[in-house]
Amino acid sequence: MPKLVVQNLASRQVFVAQGQTLLKALQAEGIDWMHACGGKGRCTTCRIIVREGLQHFGPLTAAETRYRNNGRLQDNERLTCQCTLENGDAVGVVPNQTKLPHLTYTA
Ligand code: FES
Repeated sequence: MPKLVVQNLASRQVFVAQGQTLLKALQAEGIDWMHACGGKGRCTTCRIIVREGLQHFGPLTAAETRYRNNGRLQDNERLTCQCTLENGDAVGVVPNQTKLPHLTYTA
């Protein structure tokens, strides 16, 4: 099963089942992650900055394509409520703008 490592959350490891979104996998591990619109693809607060393994993600969804085209989702970012991890591992970080106040983030 593909694995996501969240570098600035003490390198927590999350296994992502086939077809499962990253957000669901993070939540299943008990990791709080901002998702202001409730995972409906209508905000960008759930995004993750991908540092390794971008090629292992599933294709951009329609919502991700919309935000990518209007400049609100960078080439190295994905929306965790939309994306899946399909054929390999990945490493990412929580963006500074969406860090939750009650969590302690590492470098
Ligand atoms: S939670 Fe709003 S787009 Fe993912």
